[in-house]
Amino acid sequence: MNQSDTGMDLFFEPRSVAVIGASNTVGKIGYKLMDNIVTGEYRGKLYPINPRDAEVFGLKAYTSITEIEGPVDMVVIAIPASFVLDEVDKCAKKGVKFLVIITSGFSEAGNIEMEKKVVKAARDGGMRVLGPNIFGLYSSRVSLNATFGPKGVKKGSVSIITQSGALGIAMIGMTASEGIGLSSIISVGNKADLDEADLLDYLASDENTRAIMLYIEGITRGERMLGSLRRVTRKKPVIVIKSGRSKRGAMAAASHTGSLAGSDEVFDAVMRQCGVLRAENLEEGFNWLKFIAEAPLPSGKDTVIVTNGGGIGVMATDACEKYGIELLDEPELLRKIFSSSMPSFGSCKNPIDITGQASEVNYREALLAALESDRVHSVMALYCQTADFEKVAYSEMITLIHNEYMRKHKPIAYSLVGGEEVTECVKYLRGRGIPAYQGVYEMVSCFGALYRFRENRLKEVQEEVRIDIGTEAICSMVDGALKDGRDFLLAHEARAVLEAAGISTPKSVIVRNIEEAVGAAERIGYPVVMKIVSRDILHKSDAGGVALDLDDREEVMDAYQLIIRNARKYDPHARIDGIEVSEMVHKGLETIIGARRDRSFGPIIMFGLGGIYVEIMKDVSFRALPLSRSEAISLLKEVRSYPLLLGVRGEESKDIEGIIDVMIRVGSILRSVKRITDMEINPLFVYERGKGVKVVDVRIMIAKDREE
Ligand code: ACO
Repeated sequence: MNQSDTGMDLFFEPRSVAVIGASNTVGKIGYKLMDNIVTGEYRGKLYPINPRDAEVFGLKAYTSITEIEGPVDMVVIAIPASFVLDEVDKCAKKGVKFLVIITSGFSEAGNIEMEKKVVKAARDGGMRVLGPNIFGLYSSRVSLNATFGPKGVKKGSVSIITQSGALGIAMIGMTASEGIGLSSIISVGNKADLDEADLLDYLASDENTRAIMLYIEGITRGERMLGSLRRVTRKKPVIVIKSGRSKRGAMAAASHTGSLAGSDEVFDAVMRQCGVLRAENLEEGFNWLKFIAEAPLPSGKDTVIVTNGGGIGVMATDACEKYGIELLDEPELLRKIFSSSMPSFGSCKNPIDITGQASEVNYREALLAALESDRVHSVMALYCQTADFEKVAYSEMITLIHNEYMRKHKPIAYSLVGGEEVTECVKYLRGRGIPAYQGVYEMVSCFGALYRFRENRLKEVQEEVRIDIGTEAICSMVDGALKDGRDFLLAHEARAVLEAAGISTPKSVIVRNIEEAVGAAERIGYPVVMKIVSRDILHKSDAGGVALDLDDREEVMDAYQLIIRNARKYDPHARIDGIEVSEMVHKGLETIIGARRDRSFGPIIMFGLGGIYVEIMKDVSFRALPLSRSEAISLLKEVRSYPLLLGVRGEESKDIEGIIDVMIRVGSILRSVKRITDMEINPLFVYERGKGVKVVDVRIMIAKDREE
């Protein structure tokens, strides 16, 4: 998608801006907005609108937007909520393109209807709305600071989209003190119309933006957002900070998938899937942003640590392992690169330890040696304060080194550990945009983010695997159950859904008396399993409605009577539709595959190992649908117990292809039949490679109100 295809050009480059609520009264938001726009030297035409004053900020003021003669691309609104709708109608008449509604007091305060009316009036009038409940936006393209945040925003290559206004204002301050320049910062507030996806689509091809940071509190229209994220992360790093890691958002649990799919786990998995870099907190996010916005992309994986202290070298090595960073490990080559710059007492093993006795000259030479070698792709420079540390000399030396690295397009970052003087040195360097950190982990985690971005860019674009599933047969099964007033499928219906989708299930027959039960068992072959079939009993085991491993006709006859008795005791009013006699599936490795419609991201799929792994360890992983083959594989690899699938202690590896096939088919069912809300295959027994998988039980939940 091109920038101009997004229809957002005039949002980032409005030729004219009007401010409704522009004020000469110091302290008012309408004053601050005007002050920022004027002192920020906005390059377009500015029209203050105020019903009382003839001039605002020395500019002719208009009593209404309709009085302005020329076209107006953007209108910033900062008047009380009750007057906003009238002004929106006027803006529509004027042919305005974008509204930036600063005003609070809409859906966030329970005034949902009013917000809807405002958006409808705007959209009907051909306008898009940012906000309401925002601090505004800054766009470096036309030097527009239409915020009531700080002035003097530093221009640069980072774009920030934030849901929190107050935090956004703080972020402007943080970027300035960190020497991070902004290409844009946009407060999305209530996201009544424009949201992150609209902005990301534009920023993806905005040549002024090298890196993007998102601060998110909640997701609306998540499926659309994922599409935008997938596109943009192939071109630019996107760092996300999301607050609210609690599980409150998890849906009431009708299944494991429901209870395990806490909103944060899903968010985390889905962001990873889209190539987004999720930071734990603001500090980490800003550390990454600072580094990644300027750092050249490494041309390979081989990293070198140069240090004057063994201890911090080891810490950095540990951190590299944690963040998946590969250290160049070729002793001969390392000796060749570093021996000439190495004091006799140093070590050419990676971490390259020039030791605490090394001088500033040794340190500089070692860093330059790494810079010159084509076999070194990125460099971590660690420094531990020594007796001869001299703040100014080191600050100058690092600045010089840094410029050399930037010229050579090789990433480098610095971690300086020590007392007050070192802290000042780090502050000095950071203020000049140099990625210097006090913590070793902080610095290494920045490389982790950079390398993940690199990997994501190199990943091939994966196509969704499309499989023919018997949609018609599945729909008729769902229709029948809905007509019956149920929100779930009976066991045999659920199995029929799987069969229609090409997932094989155990042989089974529904019987209504003992003779039929015995006949069915003999046809299927012993041992068999028997289960109650009742629309009123969802949890069959709890009702004593399941009997396993029945070896002969006597056991089948006894089980039949016992199951009926138990079911009647459990719920005397339960309607009993019969008993299902099925093939007893021989045990394999127990796994679970679940799929459901997430409130934020639409259809998602879950995989985990069953039994205790899912019950106690909660060892599961998620992906948003659609699922490509490689995504399916990475989903499997993400569970901690994945080695069990590869086979441990001399066991054969398991039928991973069989699991992937079932996952892709389950994903297709959920994508094609919107009335299916939840599916869970639990357990799915997995056998040795080539011997397939077997569904033991499946549960499917349905809902009426979904469009196919
Ligand atoms: N057309 C043009 N101008 C108008 C109109 C109108 N229809 N109605 C009022 N005005 C003028 C007023 O005369 C006034 O100008 P004056 O100072 O010359 O008299 C100016 O517009 C502002 O109107 P007030 O009634 O004085 O409104 P006030 O400034 O007190 O409040 C505001 C307006 C700021 C929009 C308020 O309603 C509000 O929503 N505040 C919260 C904003 C906010 O926090 N947003 C979220 C940001 S994110 C975060 O958390 C930081």
